[in-house]
Amino acid sequence: MKVAILSGSVYGTAEEVARHASKLLEDAGFETFYNPRASLDELLASAPQALLAVTSTTGMGELPDNLQPLYSMLRDQLPAALRGLPGAVIGLGDASYGDTFCGGGEQLRELFMELGVREVQDMLRLDASESVTPEADAEPWLAELIKKL
Ligand SMILES: Cc1cc2nc3c(=O)[nH]c(=O)nc-3n(C[C@H](O)[C@H](O)[C@H](O)COP(=O)(O)O)c2cc1C
Repeated sequence: MKVAILSGSVYGTAEEVARHASKLLEDAGFETFYNPRASLDELLASAPQALLAVTSTTGMGELPDNLQPLYSMLRDQLPAALRGLPGAVIGLGDASYGDTFCGGGEQLRELFMELGVREVQDMLRLDASESVTPEADAEPWLAELIKKL
Protein backbone atom coordinates (compact mmCIF):
# COMPACT_ATOMS: atom_id res chain seq x y z
CA MET A 1 0.00 0.00 0.00
CA LYS A 2 1.22 3.47 -0.89
CA VAL A 3 0.81 6.17 1.78
CA ALA A 4 1.17 9.83 0.81
CA ILE A 5 2.31 12.08 3.64
CA LEU A 6 1.46 15.79 3.67
CA SER A 7 3.19 18.11 6.10
CA GLY A 8 2.92 21.68 7.29
CA SER A 9 5.71 23.12 9.39
CA VAL A 10 7.16 26.50 10.36
CA TYR A 11 10.25 25.51 12.36
CA GLY A 12 10.69 21.94 11.13
CA THR A 13 9.27 19.90 14.02
CA ALA A 14 6.27 18.61 12.06
CA GLU A 15 8.58 17.78 9.16
CA GLU A 16 10.74 15.68 11.47
CA VAL A 17 7.65 13.85 12.71
CA ALA A 18 6.51 13.29 9.10
CA ARG A 19 9.93 11.95 8.12
CA HIS A 20 9.96 9.62 11.12
CA ALA A 21 6.44 8.42 10.22
CA SER A 22 7.60 7.77 6.67
CA LYS A 23 10.48 5.65 7.96
CA LEU A 24 8.27 3.64 10.33
CA LEU A 25 5.70 3.03 7.58
CA GLU A 26 8.44 1.86 5.21
CA ASP A 27 9.91 -0.39 7.90
CA ALA A 28 6.44 -1.92 8.20
CA GLY A 29 6.37 -2.65 4.46
CA PHE A 30 4.41 0.33 3.13
CA GLU A 31 5.53 2.50 0.26
CA THR A 32 5.50 6.21 1.05
CA PHE A 33 5.42 9.45 -0.91
CA TYR A 34 6.73 12.40 1.09
CA ASN A 35 7.68 15.81 -0.22
CA PRO A 36 6.98 18.74 2.15
CA ARG A 37 6.43 21.03 -0.84
CA ALA A 38 4.47 18.65 -3.05
CA SER A 39 2.12 20.16 -5.62
CA LEU A 40 -1.33 18.68 -6.15
CA ASP A 41 -0.15 17.14 -9.43
CA GLU A 42 2.79 15.44 -7.70
CA LEU A 43 0.55 14.18 -4.91
CA LEU A 44 -1.97 12.71 -7.35
CA ALA A 45 0.77 11.28 -9.58
CA SER A 46 2.03 9.30 -6.59
CA ALA A 47 -1.31 7.39 -6.77
CA PRO A 48 -1.82 7.26 -2.99
CA GLN A 49 -3.93 4.54 -1.38
CA ALA A 50 -3.89 6.25 2.03
CA LEU A 51 -3.14 9.75 3.36
CA LEU A 52 -1.29 10.85 6.48
CA ALA A 53 -1.22 14.56 7.29
CA VAL A 54 1.24 15.98 9.83
CA THR A 55 0.94 19.68 10.57
CA SER A 56 1.84 22.23 13.18
CA THR A 57 -0.25 25.31 13.93
CA THR A 58 0.81 28.90 13.54
CA GLY A 59 -0.71 32.37 13.93
CA MET A 60 -4.05 31.90 15.69
CA GLY A 61 -4.89 28.35 14.70
CA GLU A 62 -3.60 28.63 11.13
CA LEU A 63 -1.83 26.23 8.82
CA PRO A 64 1.87 26.83 8.07
CA ASP A 65 2.61 28.66 4.80
CA ASN A 66 4.25 25.68 3.09
CA LEU A 67 0.98 23.73 3.21
CA GLN A 68 -1.37 26.57 2.19
CA PRO A 69 -1.06 26.15 -1.62
CA LEU A 70 -1.72 22.39 -1.55
CA TYR A 71 -4.53 22.85 0.99
CA SER A 72 -6.25 25.45 -1.21
CA MET A 73 -5.92 23.37 -4.36
CA LEU A 74 -7.29 20.28 -2.64
CA ARG A 75 -10.26 22.30 -1.33
CA ASP A 76 -10.93 23.88 -4.71
CA GLN A 77 -10.64 20.72 -6.75
CA LEU A 78 -11.73 17.94 -4.36
CA PRO A 79 -9.99 15.32 -6.55
CA ALA A 80 -12.13 12.21 -7.00
CA ALA A 81 -9.02 9.99 -6.78
CA LEU A 82 -8.79 10.68 -3.04
CA ARG A 83 -12.43 9.94 -2.23
CA GLY A 84 -12.83 6.93 0.04
CA LEU A 85 -9.14 6.59 0.93
CA PRO A 86 -8.22 5.90 4.55
CA GLY A 87 -6.46 8.77 6.30
CA ALA A 88 -5.29 10.15 9.62
CA VAL A 89 -3.92 13.41 11.01
CA ILE A 90 -1.13 14.28 13.44
CA GLY A 91 -1.53 17.81 14.80
CA LEU A 92 1.32 19.63 16.51
CA GLY A 93 0.53 22.59 18.71
CA ASP A 94 0.88 24.09 22.11
CA ALA A 95 -1.96 23.77 24.62
CA SER A 96 -1.12 27.21 26.03
CA TYR A 97 -2.78 28.63 22.89
CA GLY A 98 -6.11 27.50 24.34
CA ASP A 99 -8.96 27.31 21.81
CA THR A 100 -6.65 27.23 18.81
CA PHE A 101 -4.70 24.20 20.14
CA CYS A 102 -3.86 22.05 17.11
CA GLY A 103 -6.06 24.26 14.90
CA GLY A 104 -3.96 23.40 11.85
CA GLY A 105 -4.64 19.70 12.38
CA GLU A 106 -8.36 20.46 12.81
CA GLN A 107 -8.36 22.25 9.44
CA LEU A 108 -6.89 19.16 7.81
CA ARG A 109 -9.51 16.92 9.45
CA GLU A 110 -12.18 19.15 7.93
CA LEU A 111 -10.43 18.99 4.58
CA PHE A 112 -10.33 15.18 4.79
CA MET A 113 -14.08 15.21 5.45
CA GLU A 114 -14.69 17.40 2.39
CA LEU A 115 -12.46 15.15 0.29
CA GLY A 116 -14.27 12.02 1.45
CA VAL A 117 -11.08 10.69 3.07
CA ARG A 118 -12.09 8.31 5.89
CA GLU A 119 -10.39 9.19 9.18
CA VAL A 120 -9.42 5.74 10.46
CA GLN A 121 -7.89 6.92 13.73
CA ASP A 122 -8.50 9.92 16.01
CA MET A 123 -6.12 12.81 15.46
CA LEU A 124 -2.93 12.65 17.52
CA ARG A 125 -2.33 15.96 19.28
CA LEU A 126 1.31 16.62 20.14
CA ASP A 127 1.63 19.37 22.73
CA ALA A 128 4.92 21.30 22.62
CA SER A 129 4.30 22.61 26.15
CA GLU A 130 4.38 19.05 27.50
CA SER A 131 7.03 17.24 25.50
CA VAL A 132 10.22 17.82 23.56
CA THR A 133 10.22 14.37 21.93
CA PRO A 134 7.37 14.54 19.40
CA GLU A 135 8.78 11.87 17.08
CA ALA A 136 9.06 9.31 19.88
CA ASP A 137 5.65 10.39 21.25
CA ALA A 138 4.06 9.62 17.88
CA GLU A 139 5.36 6.05 17.74
CA PRO A 140 2.54 4.24 19.63
CA TRP A 141 -0.08 6.12 17.57
CA LEU A 142 1.75 5.23 14.35
CA ALA A 143 1.94 1.58 15.39
CA GLU A 144 -1.88 1.63 15.79
CA LEU A 145 -2.28 3.31 12.40
CA ILE A 146 -0.09 0.68 10.75
CA LYS A 147 -2.43 -2.01 12.10
CA LYS A 148 -5.48 -0.20 10.71
CA LEU A 149 -4.20 0.42 7.19
C1 LIG B 1 3.94 32.35 16.25
C2 LIG B 1 3.41 31.03 16.72
C3 LIG B 1 2.05 30.81 16.74
C4 LIG B 1 1.53 29.59 17.20
N1 LIG B 1 0.16 29.40 17.23
C5 LIG B 1 -0.33 28.24 17.71
C6 LIG B 1 -1.74 28.04 17.79
O1 LIG B 1 -2.55 28.90 17.43
N2 LIG B 1 -2.19 26.85 18.27
C7 LIG B 1 -1.34 25.85 18.68
O2 LIG B 1 -1.81 24.80 19.11
N3 LIG B 1 0.01 26.02 18.61
C8 LIG B 1 0.53 27.17 18.14
N4 LIG B 1 1.89 27.34 18.07
C9 LIG B 1 2.77 26.24 18.55
C10 LIG B 1 3.36 25.39 17.41
O3 LIG B 1 2.34 24.83 16.59
C11 LIG B 1 4.20 24.27 18.02
O4 LIG B 1 5.28 24.84 18.72
C12 LIG B 1 4.72 23.28 17.01
O5 LIG B 1 5.37 22.20 17.66
C13 LIG B 1 5.69 23.91 16.00
O6 LIG B 1 5.98 22.94 14.99
P1 LIG B 1 6.85 23.32 13.69
O7 LIG B 1 8.29 23.39 14.15
O8 LIG B 1 6.64 22.17 12.75
O9 LIG B 1 6.33 24.59 13.13
C14 LIG B 1 2.41 28.56 17.63
C15 LIG B 1 3.80 28.79 17.61
C16 LIG B 1 4.30 30.01 17.18
C17 LIG B 1 5.80 30.25 17.22
